[in-house]
Amino acid sequence: MSFAQSEANYDETKVPKFTLPDALVTFSGNNISDHVQWEADRRFEIFQFFERQVYGKVPGRLDEYSFKLIEESNDAYGGKARRKQVAISLKKNKKSITYNMLIYLPKGNPTAPVFLGYNFYGNHTVTSDPKVPLTKAWVPNNESFGIKDNKATEGSRGVRQHRWAIEKMLDNGFGLATIYYGEVDPDKNDFSDGVHELFYTEDQTKPKTNEWGSIAGWAFGLSKAMDYLENDGNISNVVVFGHSRLGKAALWAGATDKRFAGVISNNSGCGGAALSKRKFGETVGKINTAFPHWFADSFLKYNDNEKTLPVDQHQLLALIAPRPLYVASAFDDRWADPKGEFLSAHYASMVYELYEKEGIATEQIPEVNQPLQHTVAYHVRTGKHDVTDYDWEQYITWAKAFIQ
Ligand code: GCU
Repeated sequence: MSFAQSEANYDETKVPKFTLPDALVTFSGNNISDHVQWEADRRFEIFQFFERQVYGKVPGRLDEYSFKLIEESNDAYGGKARRKQVAISLKKNKKSITYNMLIYLPKGNPTAPVFLGYNFYGNHTVTSDPKVPLTKAWVPNNESFGIKDNKATEGSRGVRQHRWAIEKMLDNGFGLATIYYGEVDPDKNDFSDGVHELFYTEDQTKPKTNEWGSIAGWAFGLSKAMDYLENDGNISNVVVFGHSRLGKAALWAGATDKRFAGVISNNSGCGGAALSKRKFGETVGKINTAFPHWFADSFLKYNDNEKTLPVDQHQLLALIAPRPLYVASAFDDRWADPKGEFLSAHYASMVYELYEKEGIATEQIPEVNQPLQHTVAYHVRTGKHDVTDYDWEQYITWAKAFIQ
């Protein structure tokens, strides 16, 4: 546990008293009573706030982007799956980046829904499939994976398989599309590389105050991946998934891009699903200090000043309505504030109700391993900050019921 984690507040009695901004009252005080009004008068102002003051704006459009199928096989996972590897290139100002998407699709049906999610250490870490090349991008050092000098090694092949229940997905008719997030934007506090750099004007070295941080950069990368996926004739629907910092990116991707048919936030915590105003576990000040590159600089003014935030994260979740949304926590992951994640799903549900979609009606967090699954779903499982087979089993059951 880091120092910041050990000295955080984990005492429910020390959660400050706060008033949660109402999803259904506009900044100027008007009540919203149906989904037409929500979309016309409220959704956009909330969206704009998150875009300018939290994650930061994408500063323009790409000049060009393209996709290249670099490898394909009909014989992955013992013949159960087809595999595709697609290189996605983004171009702007005569500069470009390329990132790789690994796709497995079940062979039973001509089309299948897929989960799209970033991985933390390279596509070769999610599977032992030898046909997946090592990432050439910068990766964080990790002694237990044998990664030093920020370069992926053969020794890290398959080290994250336990976080991706690929065979379970395939056996249930789902596919997986995954990308190493560091190929879109390396996760370090320097903006000299990755997707941000493409957009700089001469002499610029970092985004402007209300422009995108890394989370918005990763969300943008997911949207561009969606441009490929929606045109792949073997894919019916895409549910965007992410764990932890990548769960924050998945939520923002779901809010910014309505083509995602559903969104799954796994232990996304502060700046993801958890309510900021509770200041339980990780806080805005702590996250902006430890990871100054994740959010827009305009978000810094809320460091230890959450009470002045005119929004909270339940409103980020509400931006995804009426599309299916799953928020999941882990009981021992107090840093991510399971109760704050639950309450956020509960308070977002009033927007789902405008569309006559069932959300999380109860204010009482369920017992561990007792999922509540409606269009908005929630569970808190036993165990720590991680993605487990249990999590995937719930996501698959829910996606079968709610993703068309
Ligand atoms: C840190 C960070 C969290 C983040 C997590 C992760 O703990 O403080 O905000 O979610 O890393 O990405 O694993």
